[in-house]
Amino acid sequence: MSDQSAVPSLPLPGGASIPQLGYGVFKVENDVAADVTVQALEAGYRHLDTAKVYGNEEGVGRAIRASGVAREDIFLTTKLWNDAQRFDDAITACEASLERLGTEYVDLYLVHWAVPVQGTYVEAWKALVELQKRGLARSIGVSNYPLPQLREAIDATGVVPSVHQIELHPYFQQRELRAFHEEHGIVTESWGPLGQGKSDLLENAAITEIAAAHGATPAQVVLAWHLASGLVTIPKSVTPSRIVENLAAAQLELTAAEVAAIDALDRPDGRGGADPSTKES
Ligand SMILES: NC(=O)c1ccc[n+]([C@@H]2O[C@H](COP(=O)([O-])OP(=O)(O)OC[C@H]3O[C@@H](n4cnc5c(N)ncnc54)[C@H](OP(=O)(O)O)[C@@H]3O)[C@@H](O)[C@H]2O)c1
Repeated sequence: MSDQSAVPSLPLPGGASIPQLGYGVFKVENDVAADVTVQALEAGYRHLDTAKVYGNEEGVGRAIRASGVAREDIFLTTKLWNDAQRFDDAITACEASLERLGTEYVDLYLVHWAVPVQGTYVEAWKALVELQKRGLARSIGVSNYPLPQLREAIDATGVVPSVHQIELHPYFQQRELRAFHEEHGIVTESWGPLGQGKSDLLENAAITEIAAAHGATPAQVVLAWHLASGLVTIPKSVTPSRIVENLAAAQLELTAAEVAAIDALDRPDGRGGADPSTKES
Protein backbone atom coordinates (compact mmCIF):
# COMPACT_ATOMS: atom_id res chain seq x y z
CA MET A 1 0.00 0.00 0.00
CA SER A 2 1.16 3.54 -0.50
CA ASP A 3 -1.57 5.48 1.18
CA GLN A 4 -0.33 7.51 4.10
CA SER A 5 -3.86 8.87 4.48
CA ALA A 6 -4.60 5.61 6.30
CA VAL A 7 -2.16 6.62 9.05
CA PRO A 8 -3.88 8.63 11.77
CA SER A 9 -2.13 11.57 13.43
CA LEU A 10 -2.22 12.70 17.05
CA PRO A 11 -2.31 16.39 17.98
CA LEU A 12 0.69 17.95 19.71
CA PRO A 13 0.63 21.14 21.80
CA GLY A 14 1.09 24.26 19.66
CA GLY A 15 -0.97 22.98 16.75
CA ALA A 16 1.38 20.40 15.23
CA SER A 17 0.42 16.77 14.74
CA ILE A 18 2.45 13.57 14.63
CA PRO A 19 1.67 10.62 12.33
CA GLN A 20 1.06 7.61 14.57
CA LEU A 21 3.09 5.25 12.39
CA GLY A 22 6.60 6.25 11.32
CA TYR A 23 9.85 4.74 10.17
CA GLY A 24 12.91 4.25 12.42
CA VAL A 25 16.52 3.83 11.31
CA PHE A 26 18.38 2.60 14.41
CA LYS A 27 21.47 0.53 13.47
CA VAL A 28 21.13 1.41 9.78
CA GLU A 29 24.43 2.48 8.23
CA ASN A 30 24.43 5.97 6.66
CA ASP A 31 24.43 5.00 2.97
CA VAL A 32 21.91 2.23 3.55
CA ALA A 33 19.71 4.74 5.41
CA ALA A 34 19.87 7.04 2.39
CA ASP A 35 18.49 4.19 0.27
CA VAL A 36 15.89 2.61 2.58
CA THR A 37 14.51 5.97 3.70
CA VAL A 38 13.71 6.81 0.07
CA GLN A 39 11.90 3.45 -0.12
CA ALA A 40 9.98 4.29 3.03
CA LEU A 41 8.95 7.71 1.70
CA GLU A 42 7.93 6.13 -1.62
CA ALA A 43 5.90 3.53 0.26
CA GLY A 44 4.06 6.40 1.95
CA TYR A 45 5.67 6.97 5.36
CA ARG A 46 5.70 10.65 6.33
CA HIS A 47 7.33 10.32 9.75
CA LEU A 48 11.05 9.52 10.14
CA ASP A 49 12.95 8.81 13.35
CA THR A 50 16.73 9.15 13.51
CA ALA A 51 19.29 10.25 16.13
CA LYS A 52 22.73 11.79 16.24
CA VAL A 53 24.14 8.57 17.65
CA TYR A 54 22.75 6.47 14.77
CA GLY A 55 25.31 8.12 12.49
CA ASN A 56 22.84 8.34 9.64
CA GLU A 57 21.35 11.84 9.83
CA GLU A 58 23.21 12.80 6.65
CA GLY A 59 21.80 9.78 4.80
CA VAL A 60 18.27 10.48 6.03
CA GLY A 61 18.58 14.11 4.89
CA ARG A 62 19.83 12.98 1.50
CA ALA A 63 16.88 10.60 1.19
CA ILE A 64 14.39 13.35 1.97
CA ARG A 65 15.80 15.51 -0.81
CA ALA A 66 16.04 12.59 -3.26
CA SER A 67 12.46 11.47 -2.58
CA GLY A 68 10.88 14.60 -3.98
CA VAL A 69 8.52 14.69 -0.98
CA ALA A 70 8.23 18.24 0.32
CA ARG A 71 10.07 18.81 3.60
CA GLU A 72 6.94 20.26 5.18
CA ASP A 73 5.05 17.04 4.45
CA ILE A 74 7.50 15.00 6.55
CA PHE A 75 7.54 14.76 10.34
CA LEU A 76 11.24 14.47 11.16
CA THR A 77 12.65 13.51 14.56
CA THR A 78 16.23 13.45 15.77
CA LYS A 79 17.77 13.16 19.23
CA LEU A 80 20.40 14.77 21.42
CA TRP A 81 23.12 12.29 22.42
CA ASN A 82 24.13 11.75 26.03
CA ASP A 83 27.54 13.42 25.76
CA ALA A 84 26.02 16.82 24.92
CA GLN A 85 23.49 17.42 27.70
CA ARG A 86 25.15 20.61 28.98
CA PHE A 87 23.14 23.65 27.82
CA ASP A 88 25.62 25.11 25.32
CA ASP A 89 26.65 21.67 24.07
CA ALA A 90 23.01 20.78 23.43
CA ILE A 91 22.42 23.94 21.38
CA THR A 92 25.53 23.23 19.30
CA ALA A 93 24.57 19.55 18.92
CA CYS A 94 21.13 20.43 17.58
CA GLU A 95 22.63 22.89 15.09
CA ALA A 96 25.05 20.17 13.94
CA SER A 97 22.21 17.66 13.52
CA LEU A 98 20.28 20.15 11.39
CA GLU A 99 23.38 20.71 9.30
CA ARG A 100 23.79 16.96 8.69
CA LEU A 101 20.08 16.56 7.95
CA GLY A 102 20.18 19.55 5.59
CA THR A 103 17.13 21.16 7.12
CA GLU A 104 16.38 24.30 9.08
CA TYR A 105 14.22 22.63 11.71
CA VAL A 106 13.20 19.28 13.03
CA ASP A 107 9.60 18.52 13.84
CA LEU A 108 10.62 16.84 17.07
CA TYR A 109 13.86 16.97 19.04
CA LEU A 110 14.28 14.53 21.92
CA VAL A 111 16.78 14.16 24.74
CA HIS A 112 17.84 10.59 23.92
CA TRP A 113 18.36 9.22 27.46
CA ALA A 114 18.11 10.81 30.90
CA VAL A 115 21.28 9.07 32.13
CA PRO A 116 20.42 9.98 35.75
CA VAL A 117 23.97 9.42 37.01
CA GLN A 118 25.26 12.30 34.83
CA GLY A 119 22.90 14.70 36.60
CA THR A 120 22.33 16.86 33.48
CA TYR A 121 18.89 15.65 32.35
CA VAL A 122 17.19 18.86 33.57
CA GLU A 123 19.83 21.08 31.94
CA ALA A 124 19.35 19.16 28.68
CA TRP A 125 15.61 19.72 28.89
CA LYS A 126 16.15 23.47 29.48
CA ALA A 127 18.28 23.56 26.31
CA LEU A 128 15.48 21.92 24.33
CA VAL A 129 13.04 24.53 25.62
CA GLU A 130 15.43 27.19 24.25
CA LEU A 131 15.80 25.33 20.92
CA GLN A 132 12.04 25.31 20.52
CA LYS A 133 11.91 29.07 21.27
CA ARG A 134 14.55 29.63 18.56
CA GLY A 135 12.49 27.61 16.06
CA LEU A 136 15.08 24.88 15.52
CA ALA A 137 12.66 22.28 16.89
CA ARG A 138 8.94 22.65 16.28
CA SER A 139 8.13 20.24 19.13
CA ILE A 140 10.34 18.93 21.92
CA GLY A 141 10.26 15.84 24.06
CA VAL A 142 12.34 13.31 25.90
CA SER A 143 13.21 9.65 25.56
CA ASN A 144 14.08 7.10 28.22
CA TYR A 145 13.32 9.32 31.23
CA PRO A 146 12.37 7.31 34.31
CA LEU A 147 9.34 8.76 36.10
CA PRO A 148 11.30 10.64 38.84
CA GLN A 149 13.54 12.37 36.27
CA LEU A 150 10.54 13.16 34.06
CA ARG A 151 8.75 14.81 37.00
CA GLU A 152 11.90 16.71 37.93
CA ALA A 153 12.38 18.10 34.40
CA ILE A 154 8.76 19.26 34.31
CA ASP A 155 8.87 20.76 37.81
CA ALA A 156 12.12 22.64 37.07
CA THR A 157 10.87 24.26 33.87
CA GLY A 158 7.09 24.20 33.95
CA VAL A 159 7.36 22.78 30.43
CA VAL A 160 5.82 19.38 29.75
CA PRO A 161 7.46 17.28 26.99
CA SER A 162 5.10 16.86 24.04
CA VAL A 163 6.32 13.30 23.47
CA HIS A 164 8.07 10.64 25.55
CA GLN A 165 9.73 7.94 23.42
CA ILE A 166 10.22 4.75 25.46
CA GLU A 167 10.74 1.04 24.94
CA LEU A 168 7.24 -0.34 24.55
CA HIS A 169 5.82 -3.53 23.05
CA PRO A 170 3.32 -6.19 24.11
CA TYR A 171 5.85 -7.85 26.46
CA PHE A 172 6.73 -4.48 28.08
CA GLN A 173 3.77 -2.15 28.22
CA GLN A 174 4.97 0.63 30.55
CA ARG A 175 1.62 1.13 32.28
CA GLU A 176 2.93 3.42 35.03
CA LEU A 177 4.61 5.88 32.65
CA ARG A 178 1.64 5.79 30.28
CA ALA A 179 -0.74 6.70 33.10
CA PHE A 180 1.48 9.68 33.96
CA HIS A 181 1.61 10.69 30.28
CA GLU A 182 -2.16 10.56 30.03
CA GLU A 183 -2.53 12.76 33.10
CA HIS A 184 -0.14 15.36 31.62
CA GLY A 185 -1.09 15.24 27.93
CA ILE A 186 2.20 13.64 26.85
CA VAL A 187 2.11 11.51 23.69
CA THR A 188 3.69 8.10 24.26
CA GLU A 189 5.94 6.89 21.44
CA SER A 190 7.00 3.22 21.35
CA TRP A 191 10.55 2.30 20.39
CA GLY A 192 11.39 -1.32 19.75
CA PRO A 193 7.71 -1.79 18.90
CA LEU A 194 8.28 -5.26 17.42
CA GLY A 195 10.51 -6.31 20.31
CA GLN A 196 13.69 -5.68 18.26
CA GLY A 197 13.86 -9.38 17.34
CA LYS A 198 15.05 -10.09 20.91
CA SER A 199 12.16 -12.32 21.98
CA ASP A 200 9.59 -14.72 20.57
CA LEU A 201 6.99 -11.92 20.39
CA LEU A 202 6.21 -12.42 16.71
CA GLU A 203 5.75 -16.17 17.28
CA ASN A 204 3.53 -15.77 20.34
CA ALA A 205 0.33 -17.83 19.82
CA ALA A 206 -1.97 -14.97 20.86
CA ILE A 207 -0.43 -12.81 18.14
CA THR A 208 -0.23 -15.44 15.41
CA GLU A 209 -3.87 -16.48 15.99
CA ILE A 210 -5.06 -12.89 15.57
CA ALA A 211 -2.86 -12.57 12.49
CA ALA A 212 -4.38 -15.70 10.95
CA ALA A 213 -7.90 -14.43 11.67
CA HIS A 214 -7.21 -11.24 9.70
CA GLY A 215 -4.97 -12.67 6.97
CA ALA A 216 -2.31 -10.31 8.35
CA THR A 217 1.26 -10.85 9.56
CA PRO A 218 2.25 -10.99 13.26
CA ALA A 219 4.22 -7.74 12.87
CA GLN A 220 1.13 -6.02 11.47
CA VAL A 221 -0.93 -7.25 14.42
CA VAL A 222 1.61 -5.89 16.91
CA LEU A 223 1.76 -2.53 15.11
CA ALA A 224 -2.05 -2.37 14.90
CA TRP A 225 -2.11 -2.95 18.67
CA HIS A 226 0.20 0.06 19.20
CA LEU A 227 -2.10 2.21 17.06
CA ALA A 228 -5.27 0.96 18.74
CA SER A 229 -3.63 1.72 22.11
CA GLY A 230 -3.17 5.39 21.18
CA LEU A 231 0.60 5.09 20.84
CA VAL A 232 2.90 6.53 18.19
CA THR A 233 5.31 3.96 16.80
CA ILE A 234 8.32 3.80 14.50
CA PRO A 235 9.16 0.24 13.37
CA LYS A 236 12.51 -0.24 11.66
CA SER A 237 13.14 -2.46 8.68
CA VAL A 238 15.71 -2.49 5.92
CA THR A 239 13.72 -5.17 4.08
CA PRO A 240 11.71 -3.66 1.20
CA SER A 241 8.70 -5.96 1.63
CA ARG A 242 8.57 -5.32 5.39
CA ILE A 243 8.78 -1.54 4.90
CA VAL A 244 5.52 -1.81 2.95
CA GLU A 245 4.04 -4.50 5.22
CA ASN A 246 4.57 -2.44 8.36
CA LEU A 247 2.93 0.68 6.94
CA ALA A 248 -0.09 -1.38 5.87
CA ALA A 249 -0.69 -2.19 9.55
CA ALA A 250 -2.45 1.18 9.71
CA GLN A 251 -5.31 -0.42 7.78
CA LEU A 252 -5.71 -3.33 10.19
CA GLU A 253 -8.42 -2.87 12.78
CA LEU A 254 -8.33 -5.14 15.81
CA THR A 255 -11.42 -5.94 17.86
CA ALA A 256 -11.56 -4.87 21.51
CA ALA A 257 -11.15 -8.54 22.47
CA GLU A 258 -8.02 -8.84 20.34
CA VAL A 259 -6.54 -5.70 21.90
CA ALA A 260 -7.33 -7.12 25.34
CA ALA A 261 -5.67 -10.45 24.46
CA ILE A 262 -2.47 -8.57 23.55
CA ASP A 263 -2.77 -6.35 26.66
CA ALA A 264 -2.58 -9.61 28.65
CA LEU A 265 0.93 -10.37 27.29
CA ASP A 266 2.62 -7.72 29.49
CA ARG A 267 5.48 -9.24 31.55
CA PRO A 268 7.39 -7.89 34.55
CA ASP A 269 10.67 -8.99 32.94
CA GLY A 270 9.75 -7.94 29.40
CA ARG A 271 12.31 -5.16 28.97
CA GLY A 272 14.68 -5.92 26.10
CA GLY A 273 16.89 -2.82 26.04
CA ALA A 274 18.88 -0.84 28.61
CA ASP A 275 17.18 0.27 31.82
CA PRO A 276 16.98 4.11 31.72
CA SER A 277 17.34 4.29 35.53
CA THR A 278 20.77 2.69 35.49
CA LYS A 279 22.22 3.51 32.08
CA GLU A 280 25.57 5.18 32.69
CA SER A 281 26.58 6.81 29.39
N1 LIG B 1 14.96 6.28 21.90
C1 LIG B 1 15.67 5.18 21.95
O1 LIG B 1 16.49 4.97 22.84
C2 LIG B 1 15.49 4.14 20.89
C3 LIG B 1 16.02 2.87 21.09
C4 LIG B 1 15.83 1.92 20.09
C5 LIG B 1 15.11 2.26 18.95
N2 LIG B 1 14.62 3.52 18.77
C6 LIG B 1 13.86 3.91 17.56
O2 LIG B 1 12.80 2.98 17.38
C7 LIG B 1 12.91 2.38 16.10
C8 LIG B 1 12.38 0.97 16.13
O3 LIG B 1 13.03 0.19 17.11
P1 LIG B 1 14.11 -0.95 16.76
O4 LIG B 1 14.65 -0.70 15.41
O5 LIG B 1 15.08 -1.02 17.85
O6 LIG B 1 13.26 -2.27 16.83
P2 LIG B 1 11.95 -2.87 16.12
O7 LIG B 1 11.40 -1.90 15.13
O8 LIG B 1 11.08 -3.39 17.20
O9 LIG B 1 12.52 -4.15 15.41
C9 LIG B 1 13.37 -4.09 14.29
C10 LIG B 1 13.70 -5.52 13.90
O10 LIG B 1 12.50 -6.19 13.49
C11 LIG B 1 12.67 -6.66 12.16
N3 LIG B 1 11.39 -6.44 11.46
C12 LIG B 1 10.90 -5.27 10.99
N4 LIG B 1 9.71 -5.46 10.39
C13 LIG B 1 9.43 -6.77 10.48
C14 LIG B 1 8.36 -7.57 10.02
N5 LIG B 1 7.34 -7.02 9.37
N6 LIG B 1 8.39 -8.90 10.30
C15 LIG B 1 9.43 -9.44 10.98
N7 LIG B 1 10.48 -8.74 11.43
C16 LIG B 1 10.48 -7.41 11.17
C17 LIG B 1 13.79 -5.85 11.55
O11 LIG B 1 14.48 -6.62 10.58
P3 LIG B 1 14.97 -6.05 9.16
O12 LIG B 1 15.42 -4.63 9.33
O13 LIG B 1 16.09 -6.97 8.82
O14 LIG B 1 13.82 -6.18 8.20
C18 LIG B 1 14.68 -5.60 12.77
O15 LIG B 1 15.50 -6.72 13.03
C19 LIG B 1 14.41 2.48 15.80
O16 LIG B 1 14.72 2.26 14.46
C20 LIG B 1 14.70 3.86 16.30
O17 LIG B 1 14.28 4.82 15.35
C21 LIG B 1 14.79 4.46 19.75
